[in-house]
Amino acid sequence: MAESDTAVDAERFSPGVPSRSQPFELKGSGALDWGMQSRLARIFRPPTYRTVMLAIDHGYFQGPTSGLERVDLSIVPLLKYADALMATRGIVRSTIPAASCTPVVLRASGGPSILRELSDEQIAVSMEDAARINASAVAVQVFIGGEFESRSVHNMTRLVDESQRHGIPVLAVTAVGRDLTRDARYLRLATRICAELGAHVVKTYYCAEGFDTVTAACPVPLVMAGGRKLPELEALTMVHRAIEEGAAGVDMGRNIFQSDDPVAMIQAVSAIVHDALKPQEAFDQYLRERQ
Ligand code: 5RP
Repeated sequence: MAESDTAVDAERFSPGVPSRSQPFELKGSGALDWGMQSRLARIFRPPTYRTVMLAIDHGYFQGPTSGLERVDLSIVPLLKYADALMATRGIVRSTIPAASCTPVVLRASGGPSILRELSDEQIAVSMEDAARINASAVAVQVFIGGEFESRSVHNMTRLVDESQRHGIPVLAVTAVGRDLTRDARYLRLATRICAELGAHVVKTYYCAEGFDTVTAACPVPLVMAGGRKLPELEALTMVHRAIEEGAAGVDMGRNIFQSDDPVAMIQAVSAIVHDALKPQEAFDQYLRERQ
């Protein structure tokens, strides 16, 4: 039987209240498809729309590097503190508990080991497999100025085409070759090329001079790579500067999993990224939490 159409029932439809749609506030991402935005929002956590991504994909070209000898023992306990995990499909399937629910950013390029020319990469994961693994994004290395620059850019653009079909964002990692200087001029070039050619998120290194011009010139969220292991206070200072200068978060590996206390360190990084702690405050928190 049809419901009665009295004035009281009509009130429940709130006809006088205009329906409003909430804008998707992540930089440069307002026009993306719903599935793409939903996956990005898993990684870039509202309300800050920032991320602490834990990078542990080093094994795809370095093998079992220091701190990643036993991912089950060293990394699994960190998952609950990470907004996302960047890893290879081999490690995800073999070692990461599906029930952890930490969003996965899946390494999707590879080929050469540290014994060879690193820029000689190919696409290493199909988008179907990324979808099967429930990836929130895929990551691809782009070697601007490297020997196989064009191929690496083409790897990225092919993944971007596939990503549009599946609604899975692409994170472009700007890899810096041994002979290239990590200054603002180079990083602006590399990050902007990735964004112009369709990357939804770009990862790059911090530079002491002009990093704010790198983030300003990049129309999509930029996350900072950690790089080689630094003393904890120095690493936290770099994180703070990167966020102050416009980064949407970090995608750090060695400065977390090679720390004296990785659990305390990832929490200190998160306190800067999400709770606006100053470097010294985060370092004091690290010292208090250290086991
Ligand atoms: C490899 C990567 C790594 O994920 C990234 O560089 C690792 O992070 P970190 O430098 O902080 O150890 O993209 O090329």
